[in-house]
Amino acid sequence: MGLQAPRGTRDILPAERVYWQYLEGIARQILERAAYREICTPIFEQTQLFERGIGEATDIVSKEMYTFSDRAQRSLTLRPEGTAGVVRAYIEHGLHSQGGVQRLWYLGPMFRYERPQAGRYRQFHQLGVEVLGSADPRADAEVIAVALDILQALGLNDLTLMLNSVGDREDRSAYRQALVDYLTPYKAELDADSQERLQRNPLRILDSKDPHTQAIVKEAPRLLDYLSPRSRAHFEQVQSLLQDLGIPYQINPALVRGLDYYTHTAFEFQDLSLGNEGTVCGGGRYDHLVEELGGPATPAIGWAMGLERLILLLRDRPLPPRNQPYLYMVTRGEAAERQGLILAQQLRHQGYTVDVDLSGSAFGKQVKRADRVGATVCLVIGESEATDRTVQVKWLASGEQVLVPQQELLSESWRSRFLAAS
Ligand code: HAM
Repeated sequence: MGLQAPRGTRDILPAERVYWQYLEGIARQILERAAYREICTPIFEQTQLFERGIGEATDIVSKEMYTFSDRAQRSLTLRPEGTAGVVRAYIEHGLHSQGGVQRLWYLGPMFRYERPQAGRYRQFHQLGVEVLGSADPRADAEVIAVALDILQALGLNDLTLMLNSVGDREDRSAYRQALVDYLTPYKAELDADSQERLQRNPLRILDSKDPHTQAIVKEAPRLLDYLSPRSRAHFEQVQSLLQDLGIPYQINPALVRGLDYYTHTAFEFQDLSLGNEGTVCGGGRYDHLVEELGGPATPAIGWAMGLERLILLLRDRPLPPRNQPYLYMVTRGEAAERQGLILAQQLRHQGYTVDVDLSGSAFGKQVKRADRVGATVCLVIGESEATDRTVQVKWLASGEQVLVPQQELLSESWRSRFLAAS
């Protein structure tokens, strides 16, 4: 058997890549309008960063990391998410000393050893934002609004915003005890994963997909009832700002998210048609992470979108047409081929997309290929055109054809004719 891409990874072929470019273009525009600046961090980091940042009891750290030793026996890990690396960079480069709020965004591959299925991969891509240096509920509302802007600009209008508060550390430890006290008598009835989590990470049991566990959890104490007055006030302000912005949401007390660093606001945008893998964007506040990783106390909030999941939703929709003439050079005979190559370069320097047919096959076959790649116009140079330094311009949609001097195609009047045809 031939070689295949590793399990859980996928090639993005050119036909699909067009959707990625479209998505990245929209995201970049919306993020720049909101004054976010792009940051890139390494694809691998010291393993410790994720153990300390994401939490050792989480599924990501305990089961899903791609960890390896390099040749000097350093333990390194392919990043399973982007927040920890961005926070490390923020501290390492003293971005906090620049004062004010840092609004950062990033896009890149992440790696988790998960069981692959539609919408879940071992190498996947996230677009994410991190806003560092503000505890203001307006920051929470802003990141949610920016995420919604991106999703709506992509035409994804059927998503549900799920919102919760996981409180601060003190709220959670009081709640954790109450939850363990409630669940312990049911221990034997819980699914195997949840039994294991009862001591290590009981809040994650709220997320269980097992129907019987869900039924037990339904009657469990609610984290929202354990919030301190301060946490409650923050959560209420976030909701009231979302209402001001006209952003609908559903409160979901079971939304706890799979990473340990969250405090206060937690949210997800979900597409219920994608089933279990329907969360296209997840995020929340993480007010202690910067300090826990060795930086100054810095409240922060962010989110990440799974791009493969967005592409799955986008691929059913037609892309907006490209407003750019696509010219296809058809030549036959040595003189014509040489002239075609030169003219193609000149037209490319004018900003056109020019595809040169290199097959040397019959004119008819070359023109058919032009049609197949979606060219707007064929430029045909045969023996007699080569002698006269002319070119046949053939519009593929109408079949209309005119003979013109080659150099005339570089003029402004031809630019508008090409544009009109595309
Ligand atoms: P997360 O919920 O682990 O959060 O991941 C965010 C999104 O990445 C998910 O909602 C999903 O769309 C996508 N995703 C996660 N795992 C996979 C996978 N195996 N295959 C395909 N897509 C996947 C975080 O990673 C946090 N760093 C988000 C954040 C930023 N919180 C604060 N700032």
